[in-house]
This record gives sequence, C-alpha cells and structure tokens, in this order.
Amino acid sequence: MRGDLELRKISMSFGREVVLKDLDLVVDEGTIMAVLGPSGCGKSTMLRIISGLIPQDRGEVMLGRKSIDHLPAHKRRMGFVFQNYSLFPNLSVQGNIGFGMRMMKKNRKEIRERCSELISLVGLAGMERKRPHELSGGQKQRVAIARALATYPDVLLLDEPFGALDAKIRKRIRRDLRSIQRELGTTTVFVTHDQDEAFEVGDKVAVMNNGVIEQRGSPMELYERPRTDFVSRFVGNANIIELPGTEGRTVMIRPEDISLRKVEENEGEGGTRGRLVDLIQLGPLVETSVLLENGDTLTVLMSRSEFHLKGLRKDDEVKVKILKFRSFKECEKEVAV
Ligand SMILES: Nc1ncnc2c1ncn2[C@@H]1O[C@H](COP(=O)(O)OP(=O)(O)O)[C@@H](O)[C@H]1O
Ligand SMILES: [Mg+2]
Repeated sequence: MRGDLELRKISMSFGREVVLKDLDLVVDEGTIMAVLGPSGCGKSTMLRIISGLIPQDRGEVMLGRKSIDHLPAHKRRMGFVFQNYSLFPNLSVQGNIGFGMRMMKKNRKEIRERCSELISLVGLAGMERKRPHELSGGQKQRVAIARALATYPDVLLLDEPFGALDAKIRKRIRRDLRSIQRELGTTTVFVTHDQDEAFEVGDKVAVMNNGVIEQRGSPMELYERPRTDFVSRFVGNANIIELPGTEGRTVMIRPEDISLRKVEENEGEGGTRGRLVDLIQLGPLVETSVLLENGDTLTVLMSRSEFHLKGLRKDDEVKVKILKFRSFKECEKEVAV
C-alpha cells in the first residue's frame, strides 16, 4: 500500500492531559516530512499513533486515501527508528538487520542478500559480524535504519534518531539518511526538536506546538513567511518588538534584516538610535545586541567583514535601519522605507 500519509483530526489525551488536538498533517508520498517541535509537544505520541503502537482517541490515519486504523502495528508496513538505538544486544549487525525478515519467514538466501544490500546502503560493509557493544553510536543508528528498512516498509518513522550523537557525526548521518531516502523513495516522517536538523533533512517541515501543527511548508517558506509568533521564534532567530516610530505595532524582524552604522559626530537627531551593548563572534558572522532608546533590545547579525568595515565596537552609539519586517496580523512581508 503506497500513497500519501495523512493524519486527519487526530486527538489524544493521557488522563486529563490533552496531548494532540485535532492534528492534521499530510506527508506526500516519497518525501521526507520533518516535524519540528519542542520537547513535550506530542511528537512521539504522534509517531506511535501512526505506527499503530497506540490507538488515538479520535481522528484517522490514512495511507493512500484509505484508513489504516483497523490494522495492528505489525500489519502497517512501517519501519520505526528510536533515539535510543534499541538494537538486540546479543545479535550481530546482520542478525539485527535480518530480524524482521526472519519473523516473516523469508528464506535464508533472500535474507542474506537483502542484508548485504542494506549494509552497503547504510555504509557498514565489513561490520556484519559485530555486536552492538562494539559499534559507535552513529554505527548503531545506521543498523537501526537498515533494520527498519529491511522489510520494504511503505513508511519510515524516525523519532529523534540522532539526538544522542555528537555534532559532527550527526551532520554526516543526516546527509546519509537523505541520500538513502532519495534512493529508496520511502515516505518518511522524521521528528526532531533541532531546527538545523529539520531543515537539512526535510523536504517539507511541519512546526508542532502543544499538540497541533502550526505551519507546514518548505524550509524557506517557514523562515521567510512564518504565520505565527511561535513559528517565527522557533524557526531561526527573531526580534519581536514594537516597531520604532509606531505606537504599539508589534512586528517580527530577522537579525540579518537590520543594518547598523556608527552615529557620526555632530549628527542631528532623528531615526532610530541605540547602543551596541554586546557582541558575539560566530565564526564568519558577528551577532550584536543593540539596546534601543525605548528599552527594547535588538539582535543584529552581520558578516565579520561588514562589522569591521563599519568600524563598529562595543558601547558604540549606533543608528538602526530596519530593512525588512513582518507583522503577523497582516500576514505578509513588508519593506520599511
Ligand atoms: N504513555 C503516556 N502516559 C501518560 N502521559 C504520556 C504518555 N506518553 C506521553 N505522555 C505525555 O504526553 C506529552 C507529550 O509527550 P511526547 O509525545 O513524548 O512529546 P515529545 O515527543 O514531543 O517530547 C508529555 O507531556 C508526556 O508526559
Ligand atoms: Mg519524543
């Protein structure tokens, strides 16, 4: 069974705690949907419902336009990868990957061939006979991915799979996951609380908060046209302040959409001014904090070369120019004059 995966108005409570509220989500067939949300927002619960591990209170899980709610987990043709590896400690790499196929009573030759195909796909050639305790975290997660894919699932579900890995390895394995998914075309839901990860892995990203999907779109759309306060803060950095020169108009300004320059000697009043109260070097970029006269603080991001060219220093008096801002009420991008 193939086709789009669709969640329709899924609701779920544990006792009195409402965890999912009429949650809607469509994952197009053959694509990766990254679901990005803070810890506790209901991501794992959503995946467990999709996979059939727990039944939802209300709503439907559809695959290829048909409800699959009547199917138990083992009949849903879904592969699951958890954060904590969950490999069988007493089985080798090959044994772990072949486990599902043995349960399905596939013949030994078929299992062997599929295992060696997957082992090379996930980059573990030569490790067939190792046991989980002889593998690094990244290698264990490669085994878990191969195991989840072994039985040709229609849908692959990954629950913060790289959360326990260190930054460098994480970056590599994300890329590898993407290329594996591209090669197989398995419809995938990838859950994470890490924005960089969601943007790098997802064809589309769905931002989840408090049991609902607040916005779904391409990484670019989410960054440039966030529809809610939560999305704008959670995706990238955002200054949410009263627009200088207005009374009470709250807007969102990205740190890179603000330009600073030193106030010159004998320069008249006018425009928006502030003091450069802090700066952090972020490799090629410099992040500064500017305290405005009205007490708001703005985060401003610029390249190192721009920073040096302008001769800016801590405690400088600066003039602030807002190049682009966005107000949620009007829901459209605006350009300041
Ligand atoms: N089996 C359960 N029993 C009771 N509460 C649960 C259970 N599973 C999850 N929860 C609660 O549901 C909320 C969402 O949890 P979860 O889906 O794990 O969020 P996330 O994966 O986004 O961190 C949390 O408040 C959690 O305590
Ligand atoms: Mg979770």
